[in-house]
Amino acid sequence: MGRRKTVRQCISMIYDVPMASPLQPAQASTTAIRTAIRRLGMPLPSALSPQIRLYQVPGAVAAWQGVGEPVAGLGARCPFWAEIWPGGEAMARFLLDAPDTVSARVVYDLGAGCGVGAIAAARAGAARARAVDCDLAAVTAVSLNATLNAVTVASELADPLDGPLPEGVDVILAADLWYEPWLARRTTAWLRRAAKAGITVLVADPGRAHLPRSGLVELACYPVPTSLDTERAALTPTRVFRIDRDARI
Ligand SMILES: C[S@@+](CC[C@H](N)C(=O)[O-])C[C@H]1O[C@@H](n2cnc3c(N)ncnc32)[C@H](O)[C@@H]1O
Repeated sequence: MGRRKTVRQCISMIYDVPMASPLQPAQASTTAIRTAIRRLGMPLPSALSPQIRLYQVPGAVAAWQGVGEPVAGLGARCPFWAEIWPGGEAMARFLLDAPDTVSARVVYDLGAGCGVGAIAAARAGAARARAVDCDLAAVTAVSLNATLNAVTVASELADPLDGPLPEGVDVILAADLWYEPWLARRTTAWLRRAAKAGITVLVADPGRAHLPRSGLVELACYPVPTSLDTERAALTPTRVFRIDRDARI
């Protein structure tokens, strides 16, 4: 069986599971998704932080881009969780290089995907790591990946962007969330509110078109190995920023 067929099978096994509603899934759905991820994903190391391993399906996003229709709105049917995005790679490396940023603090990984940011935060000594995603498959993958890395991460199914800021959170991570204009607008507004409220907001981004051009303080830049299919480059410079709480962005 060709690799491409395997990836397509994985995607349909996971996303063809009937769900009561995207945000109110039946317990059976989670179990089926967990089985599918374990069966077809491979525990592979992060490129920049090989001490972290995650269930990944190499080529899944490219396959989805080739076979599926983009979904309006949340875009939840793309298997984002099946690969570590350049932003996630850079964010994880940064947290492991600068553990004081999250040590003994409560960390909230927005749009966690596979959960690499939250897992790195836990590894770096966070008091609590929360991984939040609007896709049940991502939330399920985060739980499996936390277990794989022997860390505790609270994996939460939610789209928080139209609601209040999370309570008791010291640091918000936002890696690779500026790929669509509608998501970029909502994410930027919410994160800016969080920064103004005194939360440390870290952004990691490989130069996506919709990242704000101002109000960001650069903290680090990493050359991330990337796929020619999805990023059209073998190495993509990916920056980690802090949102300046006093700036307009
Ligand atoms: C490109 S992936 C990045 C994943 C991870 N941060 C990384 O860098 O590897 C974007 C993730 O954000 C999630 N997402 C998109 N919109 C969201 C929203 N409004 N609320 C929560 N999660 C969202 C998607 O489901 C997806 O898992």
